[in-house]
Amino acid sequence: MKKTHLLTSAALALSFTMPAAAQMSIEDQITARQSAYQFMAWNMSKIKAQAIEGDVAFNADQMKAAANAIAAVANSGLGALFSPGSSLDKADDTRLKPEFFEQPEKAREVGMNFGREANKLQAVAAEGDKAALARQFAALGKTCKACHDNFRAK
Ligand code: HEC
Repeated sequence: MKKTHLLTSAALALSFTMPAAAQMSIEDQITARQSAYQFMAWNMSKIKAQAIEGDVAFNADQMKAAANAIAAVANSGLGALFSPGSSLDKADDTRLKPEFFEQPEKAREVGMNFGREANKLQAVAAEGDKAALARQFAALGKTCKACHDNFRAK
């Protein structure tokens, strides 16, 4: 009885901790994460154009939509697209450095910082203040760069 219960809990725990993308091939994980970053960069470029460079007229609704999209990607559980074996020493067509797996504490730290600043971007964009959005864009951009400097090959 007890044994069965333990087994069930173990199976359950596993099903909760196993990332949803565990069944995805390494190749598909790499494609998906690269697309996720491209999609975020596209949305970041809209904010840059409107809130920083001003070559496109500021539109608070568009800024909100862009920030929501970035936050949605940031909160989607991107970590599931980073299986061991998906770094550039083991897989093709990726710039993920093996350090990502060798320095899990650091990887977690940069990932957490990124998530926090992406959520702040969403909150700031909802307020509709251009100057505040420009500041938060810069703060989020620093967390993108921190990860690239540590874990993305040139
Ligand atoms: C947790 C680390 C991390 C964070 C945070 C991060 N990136 Fe990246 N980024 C990477 C890695 C690693 C790659 C390389 C992925 C690969 O080739 O498999 C990458 C690749 C990219 C690419 C190229 C995608 C391609 O087509 O190959 C772009 C563009 C990009 N990131 C933009 C951003 C932007 C913009 C942000 C912030 C809003 C960001 N990244 C946040 C780690 C990160």
